[in-house]
Amino acid sequence: MLGKTLSLAACAGAIVFAGLVQAGAQSPPDRRPFEASFGDLMTMVIQPRHLKLGLAGQEKNWAYADYELRELQGAFRRVAHAIPVYRSTDMAALIDATMAAPLDAVATAIKSADADRFTEAYGQLTATCNACHQSTGHEAIVIQVPRASSFPDQDFRPRR
Ligand code: HEC
Repeated sequence: MLGKTLSLAACAGAIVFAGLVQAGAQSPPDRRPFEASFGDLMTMVIQPRHLKLGLAGQEKNWAYADYELRELQGAFRRVAHAIPVYRSTDMAALIDATMAAPLDAVATAIKSADADRFTEAYGQLTATCNACHQSTGHEAIVIQVPRASSFPDQDFRPRR
């Protein structure tokens, strides 16, 4: 009896499923490119690179820090290119005006393999993230120097 009920239910399920598949075949679902918002891009490409750069510096892994800094610079360029205007603010200009100097300072610290200088410059960079959040009415978004890795599968220590 139970077996019969179950197979009936399975049968009904199969019919519904077949119906859905057929509906799909008649009018293929529209596939549209995913349009990332400014907040999506911040979360997807800026935040992880800021974090990895911080961990690289804390580990004095200068070769990797250099790589990750370039990634972060490139990511800012791509974000500005993708969304040049955000709520009537020229984001490309704002990113350039605010981030260029702190990114350069981090680059200098990495080139001179100077941990203290890196800590200082990275702190400045992080403060600039927050300055932009404040100036765009997003003071609730507070970025800090990372204390732990959210990438347990990646080793941030220098190679030896
Ligand atoms: C030019 C201005 C600007 C700069 C510079 C900037 N941000 Fe943002 N950020 C924004 C704006 C605007 C938003 C909100 C976007 C939205 O949700 O519409 C945002 C959102 C975010 C969010 C999403 C918050 C969440 O919890 O979902 C994160 C994370 C973030 N920013 C990280 C950073 C980091 C890290 C830096 C520095 C390396 C940085 N941002 C630099 C403007 C900026």
